[in-house]
Amino acid sequence: MSTVYRFTMHIHLAPMEGVVNARMRALLTAVGGIDRCITEFVRVTDQLLPARVFYRLCPELHHGGTTPSGTPVYVQLLGSEPGVMADNAARAAELGAPGIDLNFGCPAKCVNRHRGGSILLDEPELIYAIVSSIRRQLPDDVPLTVKIRLGFRDSLRFHDVVNAAETGGASLLTIHARTREDGYTPPAHWHQIAPARERFGIAMVANGEIWTPEHADLCQRDSGCEDIMLGRGLLSRPDLALHIKQQRLGNSHQPWSWEAVFPLLYALFEDSLQTCAPRHVGGPSKQWLGYLRRTYPQAQELFEQIKRLREPADLQEALQQHLPKAA
Ligand SMILES: Cc1cc2nc3c(=O)[nH]c(=O)nc-3n(C[C@H](O)[C@H](O)[C@H](O)COP(=O)(O)O)c2cc1C
Repeated sequence: MSTVYRFTMHIHLAPMEGVVNARMRALLTAVGGIDRCITEFVRVTDQLLPARVFYRLCPELHHGGTTPSGTPVYVQLLGSEPGVMADNAARAAELGAPGIDLNFGCPAKCVNRHRGGSILLDEPELIYAIVSSIRRQLPDDVPLTVKIRLGFRDSLRFHDVVNAAETGGASLLTIHARTREDGYTPPAHWHQIAPARERFGIAMVANGEIWTPEHADLCQRDSGCEDIMLGRGLLSRPDLALHIKQQRLGNSHQPWSWEAVFPLLYALFEDSLQTCAPRHVGGPSKQWLGYLRRTYPQAQELFEQIKRLREPADLQEALQQHLPKAA
């Protein structure tokens, strides 16, 4: 018997520092299927950050906190000091953030060394203190969500962390189904989410290693979560969220061809021409090709062709050859 899913499934675009910025969010949400985005993390240490820091990571704050296609963008904070985290969350809300997300999943050593990200998964009491302190200071109508991994070295305290987030007042928890120790080594242990899903009432979103619509099905089945978050999979197939949603609705979806995807890459390049220093202009496009080549052999070929090009004009000439010819 096949599983029947309600059509309330939500798909979130994963925060990805150095990759998913406002420009990328605009391009990907315009494709469709994405219900929410989260910014790269704002590092909070010991002070209230100036508004410009929030605007830099979340320029959407100038436009009602949504991407041009209307998808809300939550501002993600990373830090460990409850009072300062609460002050910064309140500031982001004042600036118009439609929601605040907390990063307790970052595996980077330099972040963990300063008591930030996944290291706090060993300290559920502190997670509770941070979440509850922010919840008290945030206006009631601004949601507070939390993003975690299953644990730091192991998942022994996973349920304590879920409990801390829930009792602290978070309304939703995204779980990247691996420990920090696992890094990004496949597989993601979606099934480990299911018992927590049974036990706690907080809404949950499953995340990790969803590269295809079939993976989305398996993840939903194993985790018991209706909602999923897509990161690298969406970068390697920009129509992945759209495909998953269409499939749920019983509609057929023809996966996008390279010809359909390339104009997005070119739009990113054109944006880089405007916004990056000349020597960095090729960076974002090469980075995206690094993800796209997982799906499209043409992306691999193009990557080989441009990887050594540095001059913006040379890059532009090489890329323009791939634009669809006007009819
Ligand atoms: C380059 C990169 C940057 C990331 N930056 C963040 C971040 O700023 N905040 C965060 O919570 N997670 C971050 N993550 C983790 C992703 O949000 C996501 O949990 C992870 O990639 C697993 O999902 P995926 O398999 O769909 O990519 C990052 C991951 C990558 C690969």
